[in-house]
Amino acid sequence: MENKKGEKVVNLFNSIAPRYDLVNFITSWGNDGRWRKKGVELFLEELKKREGLRWKNWEKGERIDRMEGVEPPLSPIRVVDVATGTGKMVKTLCQIGKKRGIKLEILGVDPSPQMLEIAQKECPFATFQLGKGEQLPFPDNFADGVTIAFGLRNFENFPQGVEEIYRILKPGGLLLVLEFVAGKGVFRKVVDWYTSTLVPLIGGLLTGNREAYSYLSSSISHFYTPDQLLSLFSSSNFTPLHTLTFNAGQLLVAVLKKK
Ligand SMILES: C[S@@+](CC[C@H](N)C(=O)[O-])C[C@H]1O[C@@H](n2cnc3c(N)ncnc32)[C@H](O)[C@@H]1O
Repeated sequence: MENKKGEKVVNLFNSIAPRYDLVNFITSWGNDGRWRKKGVELFLEELKKREGLRWKNWEKGERIDRMEGVEPPLSPIRVVDVATGTGKMVKTLCQIGKKRGIKLEILGVDPSPQMLEIAQKECPFATFQLGKGEQLPFPDNFADGVTIAFGLRNFENFPQGVEEIYRILKPGGLLLVLEFVAGKGVFRKVVDWYTSTLVPLIGGLLTGNREAYSYLSSSISHFYTPDQLLSLFSSSNFTPLHTLTFNAGQLLVAVLKKK
């Protein structure tokens, strides 16, 4: 039987899909692109290290072996974006990968057909599949990297979702997580007030579904703190390589490695 929370969440995303990106852009003051870029930069840099390629100048995308005129055949690095939504992470991966001269094969997975329809239009170079984080439609050891942005909070069964990500990653594979997390502090109170009052108002006006944005906001305060989240990943055999927070500690960016 389909879990009730799961069904409700998917319907919610189906209903806000056409305006999802616009609301994100407005309510994050244009910062969501910057957060994604930062996470993807760290993630791809680590993936390249793992591939054993030497970089003369990472920022400019110059590889030493390319500089020396040796062009070894590179198989694409396979990345799966879980809870891909409208494909924002897929686009960022592709843009930064291109800049750095990294060949990527990108696959996106999400249970909302309406979100995926937009993703496929926006990112025709990638492959998209319907599916939940708790039951990923890929074999074991399939991906070099997995990304998940603002998706963990929606899992019906968090441990099962993390287990699935672990299963499809190759040994030593990398996971990039971007997620809004619970927290404390004076500035954080202001950010939480904004998220719980103004975000549902703006989201409601633009999508006609205020309830959806109230759910998304309240799910942040009910979610894990960064320390709790990282310790859950550690107990699921992931080692954190980089962790950053933005927005008065509301947004966690973490790159983790499968042990
Ligand atoms: C807040 S959106 C994030 C979309 C995208 N990753 C981004 O960065 O904009 C959350 C996405 O999670 C998807 N979702 C809901 N339940 C899910 C589940 N159980 N497993 C995987 N994705 C799920 C929704 O359909 C939605 O597209």
